Amino acid sequence: MTRHDADRLRAVVDTAVDGIILIDESGSIIMFNPACERLFGYGAGEVAGKNVKMLMPSSFRDGHDQYISNYLTTGRKKIIGIGRQVQGLRRDGSTFPMELSVGEHKEDGRRVFVGIIHDVTARTAAEARLEQAQKMESIGQLSGGIAHDFNNLLTVIVGNAETLSLKLSQQPELRQLSDAIFAAGERGAELTQRLLAFGRRQVLQPVAIDSRELLGELGWLLRRALRDDIKLVSDMPEDLPWILADRAQLESAMLNLALNAQDAMPRGGEVNVSGRVSSLNVDGVVAGDYVEIAVSDTGEGMSPDVAMRAFEPFFTTKAFGKGSGLGLSMVYGFVRQSNGHVSIESAPGVGTTVRVFLPIATGDPVVARVSKDHVAEIAPKGNETILVVEDDPHVRTHVVGLLGRLGYVVLTAESGDEALRHLADGARVDLLFTDMVMPGMSGWELARRARALMPRLRVLYTSGYPVDTIDGAGNGAADADILLKPYRKSVLAQRLRRALEETEKD
Ligand SMILES: Nc1ncnc2c1ncn2[C@@H]1O[C@H](COP(=O)(O)OP(=O)(O)OP(=O)(O)O)[C@@H](O)[C@H]1O
Ligand SMILES: [Mg+2]
Repeated sequence: MTRHDADRLRAVVDTAVDGIILIDESGSIIMFNPACERLFGYGAGEVAGKNVKMLMPSSFRDGHDQYISNYLTTGRKKIIGIGRQVQGLRRDGSTFPMELSVGEHKEDGRRVFVGIIHDVTARTAAEARLEQAQKMESIGQLSGGIAHDFNNLLTVIVGNAETLSLKLSQQPELRQLSDAIFAAGERGAELTQRLLAFGRRQVLQPVAIDSRELLGELGWLLRRALRDDIKLVSDMPEDLPWILADRAQLESAMLNLALNAQDAMPRGGEVNVSGRVSSLNVDGVVAGDYVEIAVSDTGEGMSPDVAMRAFEPFFTTKAFGKGSGLGLSMVYGFVRQSNGHVSIESAPGVGTTVRVFLPIATGDPVVARVSKDHVAEIAPKGNETILVVEDDPHVRTHVVGLLGRLGYVVLTAESGDEALRHLADGARVDLLFTDMVMPGMSGWELARRARALMPRLRVLYTSGYPVDTIDGAGNGAADADILLKPYRKSVLAQRLRRALEETEKD
């Protein structure tokens, strides 16, 4: 080999991006290139002559001894010429995933092993993220499907329990039982709602929201929800653009984040809510400017493992009965369904910041109509004619019973086609009460065609199922009157009156 060749080889070793390490038969390090120095944090001088096991976490050391002795006695190669993924141990005690390939060479009759070390930290992390995303996707599909069916069951359970409770007012002992069924049903409905949110199968009504005003109202709610030793601090710039999102869901997302922050600070502290415009360029959302709302705490924080799984439904580190593990799942599903993005930044002992990025409301969007359902348990009656369109026979029977008891004249149809036939036959209907998602014709489509026949027809939609009103139903959806399943009799009664009385105004 000429001097020139030797220089060139030296340059290859010195400038290689991958680590190159030479060891002798006994495992002593003979050469350690600059890439190895960077990877492991040791200088070449420090490792020269030492056993290569110092670069392996203990779990790999025994395996290594076996490979070498096995090879030297049997000649069987388990790693030489093949390569495998192992862990490297850095000087600071941390480990990293690396791909190791080993070649063999003879020097004066003695074996020398040449290891090439390729750091696969970035690839491994990307694979883990992808795997997690796929897992979230499939749990979302599964739980959304289950939640849909449960929602229909709960409509019947909650509704009948409510009716029973009213009828049993003279029999307190029995009434207690039906009240308990009612309460459990409502709790089930709450959980189901969060699952639907996670599965991105909520009915969303995106409207333009002024975050300063939102925070004003939320502040009221949060101060009641949070302990006395938690201070709420917020910073919303005056010129922050309006957000396009479902108002009730955004409020509930913020509440979940604030409650998590509180739980992370058992000895009290500060929850900070701040807003700004930020430009986003990540997978899965349109690149561009978003309104970012960050909720931070100075609490116990999360380890990387916990942070990675925090959005999974039912993932909780809280004691049994303390957390359902659905808070962040709801936030995740809601934000994704709203065409936004959510991220967690957290360090154990330091604190956590959850950032929610939501689209900016552009154009001339519908402004949030503050329409809270009355909490009062009054169920106003009526005598108008209502056409109920619902494909689930149990829910249909239940609704017909409810409406009848409220005094209404009820017509039923199990599909959009059947409903249109009633109207074409000349049925006089004041209000169409339709499920939104049905096989065949959707509630939206039915309403459109029904209004072509009867322009003054009022419509109340009901749903517990997948409708992405942002994509699916277009902007008109923000105006639509939607009653979420499962609902109480009193809420149904109030919504019916509201919808019917609007008719008389115009
Ligand atoms: N601000 C935070 N600081 C530290 N850990 C957090 C924070 N927010 C969430 N976590 C972790 O993520 C987990 C999941 O949170 P998530 O809100 O989904 O469920 P939960 O709070 O346990 O229960 P739920 O919200 O349904 O009552 C929590 O159990 C906790 O370990
Ligand atoms: Mg929570």
